[in-house]
Amino acid sequence: MRQRDVGETIELETAATRDSWIIEVDPNELESALLNLAVNARDAMPTGGRLTIQTSNGHLDEAYAARNAEVTPGPYAKDTGVGMDEALMARVFEPFFTTKAEGKGTGLGLSQVYGFVKQSGGHVKLHSELGKGTTVNLYLP
Ligand SMILES: Nc1ncnc2c1ncn2[C@@H]1O[C@H](COP(=O)(O)OP(=O)(O)OP(=O)(O)O)[C@@H](O)[C@H]1O
Ligand SMILES: [Mg+2]
Repeated sequence: MRQRDVGETIELETAATRDSWIIEVDPNELESALLNLAVNARDAMPTGGRLTIQTSNGHLDEAYAARNAEVTPGPYAKDTGVGMDEALMARVFEPFFTTKAEGKGTGLGLSQVYGFVKQSGGHVKLHSELGKGTTVNLYLP
């Protein structure tokens, strides 16, 4: 992930855990997924902000993961953008669902992320707060 992918108004922070475990995924699909998340984060921060992409190792406890967005295992993308309300969050993984102007978005970005994660035997979890930002956690085996 490079600074030029997200533009100059956004502070890009990447952090990989030491001794990352090996995951079993299609690398091209993983790259597409991270780019889709980065583009969404950029679009959610029209006046700038910070995008964090981080990886970590861990065993997934579903109940714990549901409560603790910040300490869950797996790569995540976090932005300080406009955020989403519950109604929007319920629809974002639908193919062709977009709130962007015609010609700006196809609505297929998160659909690709979802398809990729499921095909890999993983999970994807969204956390978002209006006006505060969004975190997308990917759990990959
Ligand atoms: N990080 C985010 N912050 C706020 N809203 C988001 C974020 N990511 C996605 N969304 C919302 O979810 C919708 C669907 O996202 P998705 O990536 O599937 O499509 P898109 O970004 O609209 O189009 P495309 O990905 O094809 O450019 C977006 O239109 C936007 O409303
Ligand atoms: Mg998108």
